[in-house]
Amino acid sequence: MTEHISQKQIFPTSQLEDADGDGHNRCDNPTMGEIIGRRFSRRGFLQGSLAVSAIAATVSPIALLSAQKARAAGGSAFSFTEVEAGVDADHHVAEGYNADILLRWGDALFSDSPVFDPKQQSAAAQSRQFGYNNDYVGYIPIDGSSKHGILVVNHEYTNPHLMFPGLVTIADGKIKQAKLTKEQVDIEMAAHGGTIVEIRKADGKWQVVPDGKYNRRITSVTETELTGPVAGHERVKTSADTTGTKVIGTFNNCAGGVTPWGTYIMAEENFHGYFSGELPADHKEAANHKRYGVPEGAYEWAHFYDRFNVAKEPNEPNRFGWIVEVDVLDPTSTPKKRSALGRTKHEGAASIVDKDGRVVFYLGDDERFDYVYKFVTSGTYMANDRTANMKLLDEGTLYVAKFTEDGTLQWLPVVHGQGPLTAENGFASQAEVLIETRRAADLLGATKMDRPEDIEPNAVTGKVYVMLTNNTKRKPEQVDAANPRADNAFGHIIEITEDGGAFGATSGKWEVLLKCGDPAVAAVGASFSTETTKNGWFGMPDNCSIDAAGRLWVATDGNNNKATGRTDGLWAVDTEGDARATSKLFYRVPVGAELCGPLFLPDDQTAFVAVQHPGDGGDDWSGHGRPSYYEDLSTRWPDFKEDMPVRPAVVAITKVGGGKIAV
Ligand code: FEO
Ligand code: CA
Ligand code: CA
Repeated sequence: MTEHISQKQIFPTSQLEDADGDGHNRCDNPTMGEIIGRRFSRRGFLQGSLAVSAIAATVSPIALLSAQKARAAGGSAFSFTEVEAGVDADHHVAEGYNADILLRWGDALFSDSPVFDPKQQSAAAQSRQFGYNNDYVGYIPIDGSSKHGILVVNHEYTNPHLMFPGLVTIADGKIKQAKLTKEQVDIEMAAHGGTIVEIRKADGKWQVVPDGKYNRRITSVTETELTGPVAGHERVKTSADTTGTKVIGTFNNCAGGVTPWGTYIMAEENFHGYFSGELPADHKEAANHKRYGVPEGAYEWAHFYDRFNVAKEPNEPNRFGWIVEVDVLDPTSTPKKRSALGRTKHEGAASIVDKDGRVVFYLGDDERFDYVYKFVTSGTYMANDRTANMKLLDEGTLYVAKFTEDGTLQWLPVVHGQGPLTAENGFASQAEVLIETRRAADLLGATKMDRPEDIEPNAVTGKVYVMLTNNTKRKPEQVDAANPRADNAFGHIIEITEDGGAFGATSGKWEVLLKCGDPAVAAVGASFSTETTKNGWFGMPDNCSIDAAGRLWVATDGNNNKATGRTDGLWAVDTEGDARATSKLFYRVPVGAELCGPLFLPDDQTAFVAVQHPGDGGDDWSGHGRPSYYEDLSTRWPDFKEDMPVRPAVVAITKVGGGKIAV
């Protein structure tokens, strides 16, 4: 069964001092640094053996051969000078590129947005400003332009110890965090959600259009509508909403997507953290909530709002964990929670139009031993009928992946009445199958994966890339072909080829593109090509982007520690020809951050990246060497001003003088 994060039944006095020590972000693996430090220390390993033999031991003769061929053929599809991996307070991009700050936490979106003042922050101000911890970045062109469009950005979660002055004291070298006030909780709620903002490129530089007619904040208090098979079901009714359709807010919006018809998708990921309280063990929702880790009590919202207390509102958690669709062209539109796509800890929802016009959404459920899904619409995409397209996500088939040892793949329908998904197993309808998507997938025998994150189809090559970020809980007896390493600290990437070249196919083939980690440490078992330098390897693939040329770019989450000697960043990964599995570092984040986004615009002349939770950490870095919090930060990126805290920000990367990136 699924590995759950600690199930706290009470409000923690501090999220930061629990055993996991990972604060709010359930995407991070908090013990990674220790694990790597203990067993995979590069320095320790190399001291104890000859570095040369350590490297040779990891390289198969086939890899060596293909690397030689790559050299002969010129190899890589990417052309740029690699960044040096490392850790410091700043971000770094490849030589010859600009990395310009576009939007920071607190930046104005409207002419009436209060000027950001972290010491006088309010929920009202925050709801008119760019939110916290930017994650997914999408772009909807205006008039087909790669120079003028609507930027959509998710704000996944909040870091109170970095946001609020006066919250932290240090005891025994550890952060102790005071309880939040109602005003601080309200600021948190306003700092979650998403931002929709018009942007324009002038003289090679991107700018926000203040008061742009599409500009909008969506937060944890924005009213949304639950649509599709689950709408109005008894199990989603609450005392505040007897219709079972009106849900207040969306939160923990991780990655997402932009649909072919230009709507914005916000994936609800670690929703369990926001709920507290206790249900009797025999309550009819108890087992369901347990399967999703509800309630985790990482946030303090239930102190002030009863709907986050499962003892008072046992159905409220069933209203989260959905894919949310937003019509960005109407800033007054009600975001729709599209229940047909299932209820999981949705990482994202990248989509592509299949040959037959149906639209396919790839969906990862980010938990150790959870599943890879896809949703295929019943209707077909109509290029000139946006109104019809807006209904596509309410009808279709949800599938879950079974990866078999012979390299084939079956997509199993998660459909009521089929196989075990019947009343005998507690599913009275498709609505119940969708509310308990995970249990349905368990019964279908789907393959338990190493934390599925972003999944992106490649429109150029027809392949699909699945980021599997890590799973240190996998035991040797649980290893399978698609999850080939026990104690998988560094993650891997799977490449899928759907049968018949049809993204909507119900079967396909797959292979492991890359096992991540330091190839110089044989015990890690990484499989980067030998062309990959000491800067080019990475661990913990999380988000990814495929550019217009069909090249794969991978962003990481979790490399920040002494043992890896590097921060997270953006890596260019070859997938084709002799250079396959060669990786190069293009951009790296400041200390403590992970990299989200990334997004290449259709002209391949801009890459947007989202630097998330910078300054969250620094104990391991010699430049700081102690806990990082508001009053004593490991970095004040991007402003580097004494009166300004560290701020998550979206960065625009362009080539100096213009032109396509990495060509
Ligand atoms: Fe929010 Fe799975 O990353
Ligand atoms: Ca992440
Ligand atoms: Ca992610």
